[in-house]
Amino acid sequence: MLRPSVDAVLAAVFVVSGSILPVHAAECTREGLLAAAESYLAAQTSGKIDGLKLASGFTYQQNNKATDIAKGLLSSPLKLDTNRTAADTVACATYTMFISSSGSKPYVVGTQLRHKDNNTAEISMIDTIAATTGDLFFDAKKTLKYIQAEDWSTIPEASRPSRDLLKHVGDGYLDMWTDAKASGSIAWGTDCERVEGSQYTNPCGKGLPKGGSSKSNGMRRYVIDETIGSVDVLCQFDSLGPWPDSHEVRVGADGKVKYVHTITVMKT
Ligand SMILES: *[C@@H]1O[C@H](CO)[C@@H](O)[C@H](O)[C@H]1NC(C)=O
Ligand SMILES: *[C@@H]1O[C@H](CO)[C@@H](O)[C@H](O)[C@H]1NC(C)=O
Repeated sequence: MLRPSVDAVLAAVFVVSGSILPVHAAECTREGLLAAAESYLAAQTSGKIDGLKLASGFTYQQNNKATDIAKGLLSSPLKLDTNRTAADTVACATYTMFISSSGSKPYVVGTQLRHKDNNTAEISMIDTIAATTGDLFFDAKKTLKYIQAEDWSTIPEASRPSRDLLKHVGDGYLDMWTDAKASGSIAWGTDCERVEGSQYTNPCGKGLPKGGSSKSNGMRRYVIDETIGSVDVLCQFDSLGPWPDSHEVRVGADGKVKYVHTITVMKT
């Protein structure tokens, strides 16, 4: 008799369905991440959130506070001068920065999008730091001028900084206010630029803090993209005050810091 047993048939069905259904093979793709970031930018330019695919249990956070998305920045249409997105396929998240300098209320914004279960078709969190007139060193036109002159091209695969190095640079930077040794643990490029709000410093390793605060910068959320050597950390800048903040660092092919950008929400 060649008739297979019921068990064998069931086992075969199980194997086949296991290999067809994508349930166990969900991969976070760069293309999916970038498409979600594009949908976010489109919502911001139109001021309409209808086009966003939000996951069940979706959360919206603006300047470190849970907020109703309908009352947040996304409900005001903005004309964007520039935008750039970093994609993290391990955390399944993106970091998008944009500048809107021409409206009556200019903005410099850093936003992380997160996706649950590697499902880039739905956004599970929008986490925005939005600085405007009156915030620390705020001048959108000046910031735009510096950002537009930068090179954020992809780094050849063989010379990309590792994820561990990028995480260390992000943490080390935020630790400089509490740890006198932190700045010495980061390799600073000789021709690197720090753009803090609109305040420009070159080389970026000049005049760094050497500890002095007892409060560590908290609430750190990371997006790391090895392809462009970037790490973005959204946080609360507790070392100086409870300020919603984004610190983004780019490390070049030489393993040294090339750019540092900060967006800090602090009414001056
Ligand atoms: C999500 O995707 C990444 C990258 O493809 C993979 O390493 C990880 O295991 C996936 N995680 C889940 C929960 O499927
Ligand atoms: C974002 O920037 C890209 C160029 O990098 C541009 O093609 C695109 O139109 C911009 N998106 C928006 C919504 O302004």
